[in-house]
Amino acid sequence: YPSDNIRNFSIIAHVDHGKSTLADRLLELTGTIRKGHGQPQYLDKLQVERERGITVKAQTATMFHTHKFLDSDKDFLLNLIDTPGHVDFSYEVSRSLAACQGALLVVDAAQGVQAQTVANFYLAFESNLAIIPVINKIDQPTADPDRVKAQLKSMFDLDPSDALLTSAKTGQGLEQVLPAVIERIPPPPGKSTSPLRMLLLDSYYDEYKGVICHVAVVDGALHKGDKISSAATGQSYEVSDVGILHPELVPTGVLLTGQVGFMVSGMRSTKEARIGDTLHHTRTVIQPLPGFKPAKHMVFSGLYPADGSDFEALNHAIERLTCNDASVSVTKESSTALGLGFRCGFLGLLHMDVFHQRLEQEHGAHVISTVPTVPYIFEYSDGSKVEVQNPAALPSNPKNRLTACWEPTVIATIIIPSEYVGSVITLCAERRGEQLEYSFVDSQRAFMKYRMPLREIVVDFYNELKSITSGYASFDYEDSEYQSSDLVKLDILLNGQPVDAMATIVHKSKAPRVGRELVEKLKKFIDRQMFEIIIQAAIGTKVIARETLSAMRKNVLAKCYGGDITRKKKLLEKQKEGKKRMKRVGSVDIPQEAFHELLKVS
Ligand code: GTP
Repeated sequence: YPSDNIRNFSIIAHVDHGKSTLADRLLELTGTIRKGHGQPQYLDKLQVERERGITVKAQTATMFHTHKFLDSDKDFLLNLIDTPGHVDFSYEVSRSLAACQGALLVVDAAQGVQAQTVANFYLAFESNLAIIPVINKIDQPTADPDRVKAQLKSMFDLDPSDALLTSAKTGQGLEQVLPAVIERIPPPPGKSTSPLRMLLLDSYYDEYKGVICHVAVVDGALHKGDKISSAATGQSYEVSDVGILHPELVPTGVLLTGQVGFMVSGMRSTKEARIGDTLHHTRTVIQPLPGFKPAKHMVFSGLYPADGSDFEALNHAIERLTCNDASVSVTKESSTALGLGFRCGFLGLLHMDVFHQRLEQEHGAHVISTVPTVPYIFEYSDGSKVEVQNPAALPSNPKNRLTACWEPTVIATIIIPSEYVGSVITLCAERRGEQLEYSFVDSQRAFMKYRMPLREIVVDFYNELKSITSGYASFDYEDSEYQSSDLVKLDILLNGQPVDAMATIVHKSKAPRVGRELVEKLKKFIDRQMFEIIIQAAIGTKVIARETLSAMRKNVLAKCYGGDITRKKKLLEKQKEGKKRMKRVGSVDIPQEAFHELLKVS
């Protein structure tokens, strides 16, 4: 396949507008997967993705299609790169777009343009991609394609006559999609005669083959047996296998200019496979390709084994998983309450949740996570500045006085039906937001921009926004600058002992309420024990909330007098089971759920 017959494209959309379903249909149309293969959303391979119905990892598939082009039938090789739709994963989107020349912008015919449609459009537009608008779900009774066309024109200046009307469900209009891809998206621009340059798009670890890299060959060609080097590290490797993703790995022995595929090269860990790196033939001198923006960590949380002895197992599981998700940062940390663990940086709360779920499902790890925090900056009276990713690292009674603090902010984009404007404005004000823009998408929908502290967004903002707008709000954010802020460290004490893993940093104005809610939650979730437990929230030495949990002797055998020994054993076993997910802090047993519940207090 000469590069003139190759097209690399992506599908971008707001969450649930039908991207993965459309991808499935295209794979079926081209015979890449069998029709009715039983599992919808073929490219959503991860268990979490199927369960939550969202795409987390971008996946790639190569399709073959014959099309009449310039008067004769020609065979085309089409690389489809699926992208995630949720705001947390826009990093994956920009990464996918780096290997594409065009994108299908899918918009739900009933819902119209939503916040992520806007964000994704700009990502594609700024990468100079050819954009093909696809108005999907036209089979729905409430579909209104003309309204969506008008929105595309007014918001993005896209020509309404360019829009394809489809239903990925009924198949209507799908026959126009691949011809449009071939005719409107330019072939990859690389030179086959230039030395090899390829972009490392993604990597994961396979039990049998080792590290498998997804690559886009920009210039030249890659053959099995080639010796290649990394522009970032200078390390050299020998390519032992190369091929396309069809959608399973199909060895082809070669990848030519413009192709996207996989490569195995004896890398021992995915840490060596730097996403965004340029790979080239050893001993040729090349100009590295522009990489992509590195992932920015918005939320940090401590991860600890639910059972202290499992540190090594957790370490192993995290290593394996980060092989497949380079957007998580990991450093070791220790907590007096929880022992040895890790501080992980995530792109957002959903990303954090998904990471936990994958740790448990795919790697059998049981973890306790600490309250998520954003990276704050603190300045002391001696002039020193520190970035704090873990509230416990901030001394409660510092020797040097704190003189200033800053917190990260984001620019939030919110699109909502006009009737919800009032309640959304109230919510944003409660969350310390500052309105920057207020306009209309069309007569029924309002468009608002806010500057907001990131901390206010990461704790349950999206859920609350959804609930006050009956699910109609759409939301996206991009990171912005730091702003100075009045922050305090809030400690949680159990019987007078601060629990480092429960410390948080909050805005001073919110500290009393948050403190009260935290101690109330803890009281609910900690079981009564053989002694009284005093739960307190404090700023420095000042206690701002307090609850007392009275003592109780818990005897599971109390109910089974009589001599049924097997029943007794069963009960004791059951009690032991329950204990597994406990953490002993000082002398107090805290169930894992207590840690989990604290995450939701904002
Ligand atoms: P993410 O992967 O989370 O970004 O979502 P997505 O955009 O890939 O959406 P997905 O393909 O998972 O579709 C979301 C829902 O819409 C699913 O329940 C689909 O069955 C449904 N759906 C997709 N296309 C159509 C369509 O053309 N018509 C109708 N009625 N429903 C559709």
